Amino acid sequence: LPAQGAVYYLFGATGDLAKRKLFPALFSLYKEGKLSDNFAVIGLARRSRTKEQFREDVYESITEFCRYKVDDVELWNRFAEHFEYMPLDINNVEAFRDLNRLTSELDARFNIPGNRLFYLALAPSLFGPVSFNLRDGGLLESTGWRRVIIEKPFGYDLPSAQELNNQLSQVFKEEEIYRIDHYLGKEMVQNIQVIRFANAFFEPLWNNNYIANVQITLSETVGVEERGGYYDKSGALRDMTQNHMLQMLTMIAMEPPSSLIGEHIRDEKVKVLRSLRPYATSEEVKKNVIRGQYAAGKQQNEELPAYRAEDSVNPESATETYLAAKVAVDNFRWAGVPFYIRTGKRLPVKTTEVVIEFKSMPQNVLFAQRHDLAPNLLVIRVNPMEGIYIKINAKTPGADNSVQPVAMEFCQSCQIGLNTPEAYERLIHDAARGDSTYFTRWDEVAQAWEFVDRIAAAWKENTDDLKLYPAGSWGPEAADELLARDGFHWWPVN
Ligand code: BG6
Repeated sequence: LPAQGAVYYLFGATGDLAKRKLFPALFSLYKEGKLSDNFAVIGLARRSRTKEQFREDVYESITEFCRYKVDDVELWNRFAEHFEYMPLDINNVEAFRDLNRLTSELDARFNIPGNRLFYLALAPSLFGPVSFNLRDGGLLESTGWRRVIIEKPFGYDLPSAQELNNQLSQVFKEEEIYRIDHYLGKEMVQNIQVIRFANAFFEPLWNNNYIANVQITLSETVGVEERGGYYDKSGALRDMTQNHMLQMLTMIAMEPPSSLIGEHIRDEKVKVLRSLRPYATSEEVKKNVIRGQYAAGKQQNEELPAYRAEDSVNPESATETYLAAKVAVDNFRWAGVPFYIRTGKRLPVKTTEVVIEFKSMPQNVLFAQRHDLAPNLLVIRVNPMEGIYIKINAKTPGADNSVQPVAMEFCQSCQIGLNTPEAYERLIHDAARGDSTYFTRWDEVAQAWEFVDRIAAAWKENTDDLKLYPAGSWGPEAADELLARDGFHWWPVN
């Protein structure tokens, strides 16, 4: 079903996210018939631009970043006609009244039934002021629905997130707020529930009787790029762990929801977050959470600078670009099963994957007597490769009865002609249809901050434990010791 007609307000329309993700997503949706023809997009930013220039920006972004080519001129022209631009000083309520007038024109021109989707691709400190001016400028007084999509980071810690949420809730109801975590828009993250709950192979085994540990890796090859100013204040804890890493963990650990209704799924996810065992002392943080920062190094013969030498980064920065942690989920299903998570920049490969390691067969009987049997693994590959594989033990062909691990693989991304939708397409489409399943609810955000804040507090006390690792390596060795202590190791990523 195409989404209902609406006016889309893109705050931050000249920014990087709009260029790389949002324009391409809108174009793909349009091309696939998921955007009805009665929509309009208003680009909003400080900079002055004409409508024509803006459409040109949109065109360039789509040619560079969209999975569809602009090969049909007529279709492009029809699409582009829906785009308007207005320079906006977000502190000036008068400008919002002008915006409201433009909106009425667009409602009439495109036959839009008063629905409003506000996309705030802005710094979090602007969410409050923009919301107030939307209200005071009369933009919320239409007859249709209104929804606001908010980009991460949602706050800097629990108190600031609370403050932000208080401001937003003066203007929007919780069900009108769509907090983006784009990892939840990824195909394979959504697939976790299907793999778990639609397979007799896995569901009965999904607990501490059969699972030895869970490993979630999100590694990146890039450094901080041009985002030093933002990243130096966030680090891997706030940029990746509070959101993407913990969200993936909830999808793996949650109980079966009572239905596929978004609220039911989110109810189960928040329960996982409530069950995370908090690190009680700074010592516990030190023992269970490893932080690293990349030093100068080499990747495929390219010399890479140290994090501290990057643009807009404090030359004495103690910000972590790598984090590995042992996390305990204290509930009946998971008691005693460690979840190891790791994420970092300037690692050797770009990959996100989840490894479920099953418990070993009883030692010293049958085959295990003569062979050090490898445990069974289920690997869920999230990106850039998408698919799953399982590792089982089988007989090595031949007369000597030996056993070898073999892999059975389903590679979704290898399928010819498959053009997987980008996370942002799915999420924008969901928001426009009023489906908030794959957005984070306030209680999830708050719980995640509560967990993360303890780590941040311990780290602030003392930076002795920050380990440097050469760019292009797999991070500090301490991350290996974290698992070795429990008799495990990180399974190499593919
Ligand atoms: C973003 C982080 O949320 O996710 C970035 O702010 C990171 O630092 C990015 O690079 C990774 O997303 P993806 O989809 O490229 O794996």
